[in-house]
Amino acid sequence: MKVLDAEFVQGFIRMANDGWEQGWHERNGGNLSYRVKAEEVELVDENFCPQEWQPIGTSVPNLAGEYFLVTGSGKYFRNVILAPQDNICLIELDEKGENYRIVWGLERGGRPTSELPSHLMNLEVKKLQDENYRVVYHAHTTNIIALTFVLPLEDAVFTRELWEMATECPVVFPQGVGVVPWMVPGGREIAVATSELMKKYDLAIWAHHGMFAAGYDFDLTFGLMHTAEKSAEILVKTLSMRPDKLQTITPENFRDLAKDFHVELPEAFLFEKGKGK
Ligand code: 13P
Ligand code: ZN
Repeated sequence: MKVLDAEFVQGFIRMANDGWEQGWHERNGGNLSYRVKAEEVELVDENFCPQEWQPIGTSVPNLAGEYFLVTGSGKYFRNVILAPQDNICLIELDEKGENYRIVWGLERGGRPTSELPSHLMNLEVKKLQDENYRVVYHAHTTNIIALTFVLPLEDAVFTRELWEMATECPVVFPQGVGVVPWMVPGGREIAVATSELMKKYDLAIWAHHGMFAAGYDFDLTFGLMHTAEKSAEILVKTLSMRPDKLQTITPENFRDLAKDFHVELPEAFLFEKGKGK
């Protein structure tokens, strides 16, 4: 089967385009990765044309020998749907999880996203938690980024605020959301910090930059990013009208919700706040 005819490739392309249409991918902003299933590799491996091995820039031994579909560095999400073969690629990792090689895609040249260390370290942490995790998505979500200029950069503050602004949030991300302070993107250091947070959460905010989401499939991962960003948008709108809230969802309300929806909400996020906050 041709690579572009495979369902997982079509799902990847659709997700990239959905993100573009949301306005989260100016220029080459954002990147996407998918840990390909062994049976999916078999469907398309007749098309593989392996290039030279290159260092990943970090080590992911628990992903050794696996294949990943990733966006290219400097490539624009808006172009993925028009010419996927030039903007995304399939890579294979070596037996140590220290090097990768392109086996398909980026036909006009290029390399995988500069955030490959973050994607692979997050995918490794998630795989060790639960084999079903396959997608990691980085987007430049406007409203989340805006909030990182006005809210304290603390997991508890962001989790609680996002939960309060849309009732479904605690059900969609009951573990909460982590926050990475501003760091230089594209390297191992920010990848280590993000993957540490991914041990606890499916969502990590990069201050003044964007967000990372992890999930089982394209729908769940896109939906998670979309839900958190929409909640941030509601908070930005609310704060634009007045600095305090007249009423909100209370810690007791969250506890009631948790019971009926069968989710566990950590008490650390259900703290009492000052009046009007
Ligand atoms: P890439 O074009 O290398 O994927 O980088 C985009 C980005 O968002 C960096 O954080
Ligand atoms: Zn980015």
